[in-house]
Amino acid sequence: MKLWAGRTGGDVDERLSAINNSIGFDSRMFRQDITGSIAHAIMLGKVGVITPEESAQIAEGLKGILADIESGALTIDMTCEDIHTFVEATLTARIGTAGKKLHTARSRNDQVALDIRMYLADEIDRLSGLAKDLISALCDVAEQHLETVMPGYTHLQRAQPVTLGHYLMAYAQMLLRDVDRLADCKARTLVLPLGSGALAGTTYPLDRAYTAELLGFNGISLNSLDGVSDRDFALELLSDLSIMMMHLSRFSEEICLWCSWEFKFVTLADRFSTGSSIMPQKKNPDITELVRGKTGRVYGDLMTLLTAMKGLPLAYNKDMQEDKEALFDAIDTADLSLSVLAPMLRTATFHPANMKKAAAAGFINATDCADYMVRKGVPFRDAYGIVGRLVKHCIERGLTLEELTLPEYREFSLVFDEDVYQAIDLLTCVSQRKLPGGPAPEAVRETIRATREKLQ
Ligand code: ARG
Repeated sequence: MKLWAGRTGGDVDERLSAINNSIGFDSRMFRQDITGSIAHAIMLGKVGVITPEESAQIAEGLKGILADIESGALTIDMTCEDIHTFVEATLTARIGTAGKKLHTARSRNDQVALDIRMYLADEIDRLSGLAKDLISALCDVAEQHLETVMPGYTHLQRAQPVTLGHYLMAYAQMLLRDVDRLADCKARTLVLPLGSGALAGTTYPLDRAYTAELLGFNGISLNSLDGVSDRDFALELLSDLSIMMMHLSRFSEEICLWCSWEFKFVTLADRFSTGSSIMPQKKNPDITELVRGKTGRVYGDLMTLLTAMKGLPLAYNKDMQEDKEALFDAIDTADLSLSVLAPMLRTATFHPANMKKAAAAGFINATDCADYMVRKGVPFRDAYGIVGRLVKHCIERGLTLEELTLPEYREFSLVFDEDVYQAIDLLTCVSQRKLPGGPAPEAVRETIRATREKLQ
């Protein structure tokens, strides 16, 4: 049955249905559709557009439908055009005439805009929760590795020493910003479009603020054309998820690298690893490769909706039905990625000895050696030049800065003394970088504390 079987009769070619119907994907908004309709019906009763009895009958009918879908007693009819059609038709079949009054002063255009806003707000809460779980996991693992020295890189070349705890907390900061962005997006999502009608508002004396209040929205849209044709909130969510996936993808890339024999900084638990069908020795980080790979889908979803929207004249156009599959795909992808990374991280085994070995081999304490000379009164640029020559000397002899003898040091500069070894010790190098935000154990401990506080 079609809600719009007026002028055309609604008896359509099956190929029209195949392209037009959205129930195949929008049925997942059944909860929001029903809850939004209950609020609309209560408001219609309050302002006297329908009687209090009709209002109560509709609300009860809708609650029954919701309960029955949730219990499995009622299956959604996938031959309906969309979820809105299914709910309204089921309501009328169950309660009769009153059901036909639900759609008074409402169009599917403002209804679907409401449903998506409600759905996205719920998903934002869920995804934020998952992101917070991952941040907690990062904090917990970081806390165990405050003194696990590893090389920090620029250009993927060993640069200066940091710790694994510091490294992991970098990702925690990115995810904290993601959670912030989602909260910001939610505030703009919870703006009520109901009352916009099809495009030009409605002649009925609706109390839009009351409906907004019933649904826990922050306010009402202030232009009916914009109310039905705005998808900025959906684009914002897709942008936010794209940025978050970019973060997860960078983290995943690190894990892929760290799992390789070239690095061997980490081994994933067997339960979170895969093997090869031909190479018996293989243990692969498919999880992180997939998170990295799936990131592109989410960017694609953002492009899909941006492109769908860019040429649309006001107000509603059916192109906008294309918003849902992109949104749902991005949400499902972010959900999967966040859900799998947290337990993968918690069960991974890091290899501090390998990290330390890598840290020892790349002259990553050269800056600290120069800083040592600066403390002895040598201008930094001169110190930089002397240590550069020292490094060259070491490379030619296959030595590290730690292995040079004091007489050798003193051939390069007489400011070198016995205390140089303490100054270039990797843990010393890290511990001296104790400004807020630095890699020193006490600074990272403070970052973990502040991060956990934000999670509250
Ligand atoms: N299924 C539609 C959507 O997702 C609902 C709105 C239909 N409105 C219309 N004028 N045909 O956008």
